[in-house]
Amino acid sequence: MKKDNTRRRGGEFQEIAFTINGRKVKTRVPPSMLLLDLIRDELSLKGTKPGCLEGECGACSVLIDGSAVNSCLYLAVNTHGKEVTTIEGLSGDGPDPVLESLIRNGAIQCGFCSPGMAIAIKSLQNRFSSHPTLPDREMIKKGLEGNLCRCTGYVKILDAAEEVLKPG
Ligand code: FES
Ligand code: FES
Repeated sequence: MKKDNTRRRGGEFQEIAFTINGRKVKTRVPPSMLLLDLIRDELSLKGTKPGCLEGECGACSVLIDGSAVNSCLYLAVNTHGKEVTTIEGLSGDGPDPVLESLIRNGAIQCGFCSPGMAIAIKSLQNRFSSHPTLPDREMIKKGLEGNLCRCTGYVKILDAAEEVLKPG
């Protein structure tokens, strides 16, 4: 008898189609699967980090249609029809200016928070690209407050973000 693989991890698989880092993906996932697990375990994109797994640290941040979300709280099924960008997707022909700025400003120490920070800064950049005014330091600080860093004391991260968000 043919094995029924439509049930696993407590539910029927659902078919989803989405784009990740510019690549179209079609797959079947259980309804309870987290986007973080889909990204790391099924798609082998390990740059997105599992931290608190409770939506508190931002290490697992990815962009969905240009805005940062915590992939540890986001169901994989909800990516259907959407565009997902992970830290791997920030580098195209060369490193993204956000990553270059983090490196130039010495804002990366152990590096655990860095993928999430870069995604959060990119999300702010997207948000302010159609905004009539540039964000000030306080606005940037507020925009990054969901991302924790144990190493840097945040000053260099804010410097890096400010350099990208307020060029010139
Ligand atoms: Fe998702 Fe900490 S691992 S917010
Ligand atoms: Fe280590 Fe931020 S550089 S947690």
